[in-house]
Amino acid sequence: MPLDTKLMCIHDPVAQKEEIECAADIIRHGGLVVFPTETVYGLGGDATSAASSRNIYEAKGRPSDNPLIIHIANPDDAERYAVTCPCYGRLAKAFMPGPLTVILPRRDIIPTETTGGLDTVAVRCPSHPVAHALIEAAGVAIAAPSANRSGKPSPTCAAHVVDDMMGRVDAIIDGGECDIGLESTIVKIEDEDTVTLLRPGAITYDALCMVVADVKVAAAVSERLGENERPLSPGMKYRHYAPDAPLVLLEGEEYDVLAYLQQQQSTRRCAVLCYDEEVDFLPGALLYPVGGKDDLASQAHSLFRLLREADRDQPDIIYAHLPPKEGLGLALYNRMIRAAAHTVQHIPSR
Ligand code: TXA
Ligand code: MG
Repeated sequence: MPLDTKLMCIHDPVAQKEEIECAADIIRHGGLVVFPTETVYGLGGDATSAASSRNIYEAKGRPSDNPLIIHIANPDDAERYAVTCPCYGRLAKAFMPGPLTVILPRRDIIPTETTGGLDTVAVRCPSHPVAHALIEAAGVAIAAPSANRSGKPSPTCAAHVVDDMMGRVDAIIDGGECDIGLESTIVKIEDEDTVTLLRPGAITYDALCMVVADVKVAAAVSERLGENERPLSPGMKYRHYAPDAPLVLLEGEEYDVLAYLQQQQSTRRCAVLCYDEEVDFLPGALLYPVGGKDDLASQAHSLFRLLREADRDQPDIIYAHLPPKEGLGLALYNRMIRAAAHTVQHIPSR
């Protein structure tokens, strides 16, 4: 039976305290609420309730061995759910509230249903005012994966959530477009001076290096996992963010890539996630401008929305540029290489 999903529009959580209370009440009573964060929308339930976590997996259509992130209102609240350490304290001081998730040993108050059976738990303190107000009002950590149906790009606005989750959750809070547009950076603390980067995001490798002496990068961030390799983060083994049409990433000099695209579009229906500067050079193709060539923040902000839009236009194939691996580029690279199932085509110079 589909649920009667309540749609709420909250832009000012202070003025709209009653709506926040109503959504928090749903969480406290074991229901599911989709809420905005600064990264992407989250599909939230009470993190301390095994039943709520089971319902999250069901609504998302996600395998239950892929653990959830728990969202807290204040960095210090982590201690209630996990065992923290001075390294967590330094990361929290530098980057929280904000788009960083830290993996810590789990306390018993968090059921293994929430952590996909693991003894660790992923903790994040979002900076979005609506997310903050909701968690505070619920009085408990909120477990939330990205609010997409499993295999779809993460939702960066309420319309995407409505497409994926209507009738599957108790409420959807529309809080406008998410600022960042890519999911949080995830790190695992190995010891006081070492973390492993499991998923790159807006908190970059270089930013982490300012706070932690040794930042290792999990191989799966930019490489394909071997057949029998066990990923450090269960989510790494799933094909994520996948558009229906095949996505091919092009690598080469800009001039050569443009010439290749011009030639391809004469033979089939091509969708191109192009740089803003290229729009005039690709007449006839379905174009989805991602932002300026050097504006990685705009590209991150628009990527998931454009993958959804490109899919809706049912092209034969989707092309995009292979992003650089530096700075925020590494997060784009990680999402796009997986959406493309590692299909990279090198365009030789003519
Ligand atoms: O920005 C975000 O992080 C968004 C918003 C809603 O907060 N959430 C999000 O959740 O992206 P999700 O479930 O789509 O991705 C969580 C990732 C998964 O790849 C999962 O495997 C990993 O975090 N993860 C969660 N708990 C873990 C743990 N204990 N150890 C290793 N990886 C973990
Ligand atoms: Mg996700």
